[in-house]
Amino acid sequence: MAKVKCGVIGCGWIGELKHISYLAKAEEAELVAICDIDQAVMEKVIKNFGLTNVRTYTDYRKLCADPEVESVHVCTPNGLHYEMTMCALKNNKHVFCEKPLATTTKDAVEMVETARNAGLKLGLGHQRRFFTSVQYIRSMVDRGEMGEVYFGKALDARRRGVPTWGAYMDKEKNGGGILYDGAPHSLDLTMYMMNNFRPVSVQGKIFDKMKGETAGNPWGPWDPEKFQVEDTGFALITMENGAVIYLEAAWAINMLGIANSSLICGTKAGADLQGENGVARINTIVNDRMVTFSPEYPPMPNTEPYIGELEANDVQMQDWVEAIRDDREPFVQGKDGIPVVQIIEAVYESARTGETVYIKEAY
Ligand SMILES: NC(=O)c1ccc[n+]([C@@H]2O[C@H](COP(=O)([O-])OP(=O)(O)OC[C@H]3O[C@@H](n4cnc5c(N)ncnc54)[C@H](O)[C@@H]3O)[C@@H](O)[C@H]2O)c1
Repeated sequence: MAKVKCGVIGCGWIGELKHISYLAKAEEAELVAICDIDQAVMEKVIKNFGLTNVRTYTDYRKLCADPEVESVHVCTPNGLHYEMTMCALKNNKHVFCEKPLATTTKDAVEMVETARNAGLKLGLGHQRRFFTSVQYIRSMVDRGEMGEVYFGKALDARRRGVPTWGAYMDKEKNGGGILYDGAPHSLDLTMYMMNNFRPVSVQGKIFDKMKGETAGNPWGPWDPEKFQVEDTGFALITMENGAVIYLEAAWAINMLGIANSSLICGTKAGADLQGENGVARINTIVNDRMVTFSPEYPPMPNTEPYIGELEANDVQMQDWVEAIRDDREPFVQGKDGIPVVQIIEAVYESARTGETVYIKEAY
């Protein structure tokens, strides 16, 4: 069967570690073109993966127009997702866009509608939905074993975890700070586990109180003068069915927080995710006693391998190229990113005005 021909725009952290690393070894796909404004970054990935037959571009429009490319992977800073995705779609390419889909709801909706009207696929980089633990929790919800799920916590509160490379601190290029970095993952995970994607109101606050506290960061210190975004965001989000989600997102905060630790609560049971691999922990009542358990995961005979943070990237990439090859929708679609962007936009607006922001449009 013919391989899906792919081109990657942005060969930095996620471009290299998720997209190029998969495409360089994939049986069902072939990396035919890469693009980056930084020639040295492209040379590095060519060397790291022994890419002998790949075209290089410094202008993304040329990669989008490359007739051999079927799938364009947008792995650049958030503020470029819209224009690059639109350019690729206009060139009749399927697009896999890294998270967040866009930095405004208007742009996100236009991207989704353009893809839909053109009959093209639009994928989105929420690979954590593939975690075995997340699938287990979601299936408990679907089977009614959590009861009525009326509360969730979307947590990506890092004690210290400020990304100091690239454009993360640049308001225009990144769209914001932690809210457009870690929060999209935790919001998406929480809504996905709850199976509830319709936010109707948001009260939010943002802070940049830690922007001068550069010590102890795993990715090194930064220049506080260049720090233009929020380091922390909190929000209370009400969903259409009355359920609420509390968002807690921080690049730097003095508590023992960690990414991937979102939780949901229902009338019969609750569940949370522990650690980088998001191991599931279920809280319930059995035989009149409070019980907390973690489901057994593989290795077991005849089961799929356990999927955590390391494996989820490859699994999502494989799903994406198979979706193109088999002409089906990918597991995570561009449209799934719209409620996340709606919420984040509303958090900024609520923080600015001090008012509750109401979200009227459902997508
Ligand atoms: N799915 C995930 O878990 C995950 C993890 C990290 C980052 N991301 C997302 O991936 C995107 C990139 O993040 P990153 O950490 O890889 O950033 P990065 O800075 O490491 O890489 C971005 C690359 O884009 C290149 N670039 C910038 N402008 C360009 C342009 N006009 N044309 C071509 N190339 C250009 C840069 O030179 C750089 O090499 C962000 O949107 C981020 O939110 C997703």
